[in-house]
Amino acid sequence: MIGVFDSGIGGLTILTKIHQHLPDEALLYFADQAFSPYGNLSAQIITQRSELIIQYLIDQGAHLVVIACNTATAVAIDQMRERFSIPIVGVEPGIKPAALNSQTRKIGILATENTVASSRYTALMQRFVPHVEVLSQPCKGLADAIEQGSDEVPVLLEQYVGPLLEASIDHLVLGCTHYPLMKDKLAQMVSPGVMLVDTGDAVAMEVGRRLPERRAIPYQITLMTSGQAEAFAKIILCYDDLRWLDSAEIQVVPLLQSIP
Ligand code: DGL
Repeated sequence: MIGVFDSGIGGLTILTKIHQHLPDEALLYFADQAFSPYGNLSAQIITQRSELIIQYLIDQGAHLVVIACNTATAVAIDQMRERFSIPIVGVEPGIKPAALNSQTRKIGILATENTVASSRYTALMQRFVPHVEVLSQPCKGLADAIEQGSDEVPVLLEQYVGPLLEASIDHLVLGCTHYPLMKDKLAQMVSPGVMLVDTGDAVAMEVGRRLPERRAIPYQITLMTSGQAEAFAKIILCYDDLRWLDSAEIQVVPLLQSIP
């Protein structure tokens, strides 16, 4: 069984890719909606939450965990890999494919404030700085607006993407797992020469490679939240890419609604 978590619905974009690549695998998804968004939460709390959630997913039978959140990966994955012995797969902004394919040698990255401020992100970016100019755009409030299905989303997209387009980037990296939910809208905003870069398929393939020997657990999918089941079910229906999950069971996990 594969355990997957994020601050909210963003990681469902990764879960969807995993399901497309590994359709027989049982999946367990945890949305930490009581603590969402992670984008400006302290590193200490994100680390504590990640540890509690991974332990819970393991207790439920996960034999591999995906941190389907760029922010929690940036802040906590090294400690989580030290703490747990099962494979832990993270997600990182696709700076590498964007940099390697850029013709204008300018790429733009959209990510949360915590991701952009992290040392892991700086190290990743610096590997490619000799080859391309990397324009990092911290997107305060965007993941949360997507999480809430707010009317603010188009305004925030315009605010964050507009300046990058003026700088003649030819790749726009979606460095937060919430952002692929806006990919149709983003595709309308950018000119045809600008590629949107989303690492969901690459993460799903990495999961396939790292998955320990298959266990005899039949395919099933369970969604869990530290927030409210009804609100979770409702927001899923707002996004076409997530509608395949509309009949999945949603469980509320009281154990994870606070930090002990
Ligand atoms: N979806 C997450 C990420 O990839 C977290 C966004 C947030 O909670 O701020 O960064």
